[in-house]
Amino acid sequence: MKPADKKAYDRDYALAKKTGKPFFPYAIFKDTIVAGLTIVGIIVLAIVVQVEVGEPVNPATTDFVPRPEWYFYFAFELLKIFANQDVLTPVIMATFMVPNIMIILLVVWPFIDRGPERRIWKRPFAMGMIVIVTGMLCYLTYLGANSPAGVASQGLPVGGLDEAGTAGMQVFMNNGCGSCHMVAGVGAPGPGPDLTNFGSKGWDEAKQIAWLKAPNPPMPSYASLPPADLEALATFVNGLGTKYK
Ligand code: HEC
Repeated sequence: MKPADKKAYDRDYALAKKTGKPFFPYAIFKDTIVAGLTIVGIIVLAIVVQVEVGEPVNPATTDFVPRPEWYFYFAFELLKIFANQDVLTPVIMATFMVPNIMIILLVVWPFIDRGPERRIWKRPFAMGMIVIVTGMLCYLTYLGANSPAGVASQGLPVGGLDEAGTAGMQVFMNNGCGSCHMVAGVGAPGPGPDLTNFGSKGWDEAKQIAWLKAPNPPMPSYASLPPADLEALATFVNGLGTKYK
């Protein structure tokens, strides 16, 4: 602070102390009124608008697509910015590193910006930061709100599906094959091989079903699937990149 500023500040402070009202009870009283009105508002909304009751929970569902509440869409979107690395990096970056760096910045900001200026049009840098951060949060929230639903409800981006192919794709998605295999860019990059062009290997149905029933670890055995599901799955996988592409 420049000496002249300091003097002006001390003078204003002394004046305010003499003529102003003390924090207690005046400011506290105002806070109490606003807090009270807010609580009354929430109670009125709860009675008048009421909370929406959704579908009953079905623990056996396999096609539920988890989505965050709208106020977490920015974090949801942040996860995707760090996706396509290993499994943990997006979680560590989006839920720990980035938010905590922002919070630490907020806490240390008064120690960094020591200027005495209060008028907002004289603080272009601080105001710019507010606009940029708010804009970024709004943009990420918008992207999160409009991002397409997961593969579980969309299906795999494979064309030419006939009845058996569609049924097989459903079995593929419902049994977590995509957590180890990639098909047409969707799914996990490993540990299983990319199956996008698996059809070019020319396996027949018997060979595929035998594999699904007794594969090499770490791929689990699917011997417990109903025979019709195994057949549809074999048709689908054997046709990837040839019949279905
Ligand atoms: C836990 C991970 C995992 C899951 C889940 C999984 N697989 Fe696999 N899968 C693998 C691995 C690893 C291999 C490679 C095994 C080897 O070649 O020894 C493999 C190999 C295959 C192969 C042979 C690929 C080739 O080119 O030889 C096919 C076909 C296959 N998986 C289909 C499926 C289907 C269909 C499902 C779901 C019903 C499934 N996998 C689920 C890990 C998995």
